[in-house]
Amino acid sequence: MMEFKYIIYEKNEGVATITLNRPEALNAFSEEVINEVIRALEDVKADENIRVVVLTGAGEKAFSAGADIKAMKGMNALKARKLSQTGEKLCVALENLEKPVIAAINGYALGGGLEVAMACDLRIASENARMGQTEINIGLIPGWGGTQRLTRLIGMTKAKELVFTGKIIDAKTAEQLGLVNMVVPQDKFRETVQQFAVELAQKAPVAIKVAKALINKGAEASLDAALALESEGFGVVASSEDLQEGVSAFIEKRKPVFKGK
Ligand code: CAA
Repeated sequence: MMEFKYIIYEKNEGVATITLNRPEALNAFSEEVINEVIRALEDVKADENIRVVVLTGAGEKAFSAGADIKAMKGMNALKARKLSQTGEKLCVALENLEKPVIAAINGYALGGGLEVAMACDLRIASENARMGQTEINIGLIPGWGGTQRLTRLIGMTKAKELVFTGKIIDAKTAEQLGLVNMVVPQDKFRETVQQFAVELAQKAPVAIKVAKALINKGAEASLDAALALESEGFGVVASSEDLQEGVSAFIEKRKPVFKGK
């Protein structure tokens, strides 16, 4: 078993759950926390039995309150650059992982906390979730993609409002903005997230991996280039054993069992 100090790493029914575990600091991301999450993601990548990742926070209060503000005292430009690069490395690792990642937002997701959640593929919020790009309140700007991923997810109008004002929005508002996929009552949160993740883990892994890459990469390309990429991807997925299993299961009127091959 892998040893971690700041996260809890568990595997259950094809789902790996990474829990940020510094509740006394509202699960703020220190460099050590980030590096441990990246290490866990490397294990996810290597483990064929894991098909879905859930990233969440320990306790009832926070997913993560962002980058560690206490470590910013006296921070110079080079240290800030490193902080930005380290957080970006985590966000890119989440985006490039060939398996879907769900951010289970169980409370505050602020600053870097929201940015990491936005680098995940799906976001499920509990009713008590609160989100914001609050950096402006300490005289800073988002440094882990908040000016970019937030804009791509909800559009410039609302992204500017959130980044300029630093206001914290509730789960329902986040759902209306398209920032989260769904809002779940707090007392059913963990079980609903696990159930959703297990269902996703039954879906064809090759198809999900190619669809994730196409949606992520296509967003940066022209429609023409992105559609060409989609045709290539379609060809690759069509050559998988999973497609044949899916077709056979449909004809035989049974549930498919996908193997990711
Ligand atoms: N870094 C370090 N410690 C943090 C933290 C953070 N981002 N957020 C909270 N904590 C700590 C608090 O200092 C406090 O610790 P102590 O008991 O040792 O003082 C503990 O967590 C509990 O927090 P509060 O007492 O403040 O809890 P609250 O319920 O009164 O308030 C809150 C909750 C509104 C989330 C408030 O903690 C807060 O505003 N936190 C900062 C959020 C923020 O601005 N995040 C952005 C960080 S910058 C960033 O992320 C840059 C980037 O883009 C990469």
